[in-house]
Amino acid sequence: MGKGSGYGKVILFGEHFVVHGIPGIVSAIDSSTDAIVTKAVKGQNVKDERKTAKGYSEEKRLQQIESIERMLKAMDLDPRLPFDIWIGGTLPGFSGLGASAASSVAIARAISEELGLNLSNEKINSVAYEGEKAYAGNPSGIDNTAATYGGVMWFKKNPAGGQDLVERIKLKKPVEIVIGSTGKVANTKAMVEGVAERKKASPAKYNPLFKQAESLAVAGHKALEAGDLKKVGDLMNENHRILQEIGVSSKELDLLVDIARKQSAFGAKLTGGGGGGCMVALTPGKDLQGKVVSAFKGAGYEYIATKIGVVTY
Ligand code: MEV
Repeated sequence: MGKGSGYGKVILFGEHFVVHGIPGIVSAIDSSTDAIVTKAVKGQNVKDERKTAKGYSEEKRLQQIESIERMLKAMDLDPRLPFDIWIGGTLPGFSGLGASAASSVAIARAISEELGLNLSNEKINSVAYEGEKAYAGNPSGIDNTAATYGGVMWFKKNPAGGQDLVERIKLKKPVEIVIGSTGKVANTKAMVEGVAERKKASPAKYNPLFKQAESLAVAGHKALEAGDLKKVGDLMNENHRILQEIGVSSKELDLLVDIARKQSAFGAKLTGGGGGGCMVALTPGKDLQGKVVSAFKGAGYEYIATKIGVVTY
């Protein structure tokens, strides 16, 4: 029996733009997906016991099967190798939290342990990246990197396919956040493809927005390291605005963002692929966090109250 885990994440700056080589900032959260893998006689039997948004497991089932096959191939193993795979843990299967990447990392680690492969974190990360292709089509690698290593990171994809730029960001202290879930399952692959198509069709609109995303990530990096959380929040708000402009927000995401801002969250934006899924509000201090939690509860939405900067590698 082999066991493994992978962290969930929120993206503070740059989802979608990172796919195209713009830097982004991601933070792991202290919820993880766990996997237990046991060699079997026949088939790949997945028992998925994660708490999920309605329809999540069904929507992702085929992608999950493809993802496992891709990861086995990336480990130079037979993609049909029979296993019993259990998936659970504290990270809910909500779109936008890196749940697919967290499960890929957890499964890769559990297979490595079960077969005594002793794979390094670097190899686990690259195997999980292969797995992510089943869920996101052309992923940047930001989710699997956060799921593998934890912490807060500056991430810039190498468009040539070589080593990505990954640097750890040190916060002065952990900061409270609230993640709000729309309850809607989103298809990351379709969202990523949609942005790529629209960017190609309308470069005059999209290129300046990509430039702005880069400036926001650079400014966000500085503000995070300086502990200037008001500034971080303002920049997150700006980031949400350009995500709306590239067509990846939704009515429910905008509503949750508005609710959080009305409660004086420092900033709020969608997180991850959008089109449903989750948003994140920056809410330093227990009181402010509690106010946003109550507002989400009152409006009937599920939420996670946690912190950025708690999980380190
Ligand atoms: C998904 O969490 C983030 C996206 O930018 C996709 C990716 O970077 O792979 C939408």
